[in-house]
Amino acid sequence: MTGQPGSSAVIAPLKDQDDVVRLRQSVRKLATQIGLSLVDLTKIVTAASELARNTVVYGGGGHAELEVLEGLRRGVRLSFVDQGPGIADIERALAGGNSTGDGLGLGLSGSRRLADEFDLQTGLGQGTRVTIIKWKP
Ligand SMILES: Nc1ncnc2c1ncn2[C@@H]1O[C@H](COP(=O)(O)OP(=O)(O)O)[C@@H](O)[C@H]1O
Ligand SMILES: [Mg+2]
Repeated sequence: MTGQPGSSAVIAPLKDQDDVVRLRQSVRKLATQIGLSLVDLTKIVTAASELARNTVVYGGGGHAELEVLEGLRRGVRLSFVDQGPGIADIERALAGGNSTGDGLGLGLSGSRRLADEFDLQTGLGQGTRVTIIKWKP
């Protein structure tokens, strides 16, 4: 994968902690290639790590899609996809501080805050797709 617009990659599978580590490395490399600042790079890697962990822990595993965007600015779009149970109470999950597992419940809300754009598609029995975008200033 390069930092050029249109470049994309699928990271699959995302099924365990080792995969999350690999995903982190891929996102870090891509963020570096498109020239994100160290602060923005850290934000997007942190968000990606949280979302990938959710895919593994709650989604029963899945995959990630990485893309380089070129609009008015260059950016990176990351999607985390699974075919798991979906999120029953979206508002509650996004509010922060609510975990149905043994987490702090800050992964989704934190990722939303760290990204420039955030989209959540989920439905009971329909899996979950979370997409974040970070634009280069
Ligand atoms: N991919 C997913 N599939 C199903 N449920 C999810 C998924 N991601 C998040 N959730 C739900 O949203 C809640 C909040 O997620 P998050 O903010 O990351 O907190 P935590 O991981 O600490 O539980 C989770 O406890 C879980 O119930
Ligand atoms: Mg989480």
